[in-house]
Amino acid sequence: MPMDASKWIDVTTDKNHYSLDHFLIPTHYEKDVSSILIPHGVIMDRVNKLARLIVDEATGPLVVCCILKGGHQYFADLVNAVKKLTNKEGKTVPLSLEFIRVKSYKNDKSEGVTLSISDDECKEFQGKNLLIVEDIIDTGATMVRLLKKLEEFSPKSIKVTSLLIKKTPKSNGYIPDYVGFSIPDEFVVGYALDYNEYFRDLDHICVISDHGKKAYAV
Ligand code: HPA
Ligand code: MG
Repeated sequence: MPMDASKWIDVTTDKNHYSLDHFLIPTHYEKDVSSILIPHGVIMDRVNKLARLIVDEATGPLVVCCILKGGHQYFADLVNAVKKLTNKEGKTVPLSLEFIRVKSYKNDKSEGVTLSISDDECKEFQGKNLLIVEDIIDTGATMVRLLKKLEEFSPKSIKVTSLLIKKTPKSNGYIPDYVGFSIPDEFVVGYALDYNEYFRDLDHICVISDHGKKAYAV
């Protein structure tokens, strides 16, 4: 079920941006980000709450699927948090872990995704409860295609959590089951989100600066 927007944290307004003076930034990125949108500590606090919601609604063992590469940090922190929690019956949730790289494609005949794991490996999803862990929903196109592909393998259920959802006019309206924050229509980096593979080694979620876009352009 799509998460109700009142349940996630809206950081789309200017007042939420922190100055670079307020927190530590790696010196090699000082000029490359313009503001801190979500400090690392706030991300971690939010991840704990999302883990609570996931455990409360889990009806059995979960296959937690990390969408690489951007999802890896959220995945690692979320799995750590989920492991420590018990449901209403005082039971922990058994987890197995899967790692998938997803590439979207669009040709003149169809739109779809290719996965870095084989169809044989995907057959293991049959009858399982999947939890997809993504860093950001931007247009929503990749997630809609990914869900269509995964449904072919008849899992018992599929839920999606994304740490971020971007408020963009290009959105196809897709909303995950568990959302951390809604963010403005700007390019953000850090906490494993990259720009041309840079900035994954930055803990806070930051808005990239024009200097940064130029410095790491391909
Ligand atoms: N940052 C990093 N990766 C992304 C973004 C973004 O803002 N949108 C889609 N992929
Ligand atoms: Mg990405």
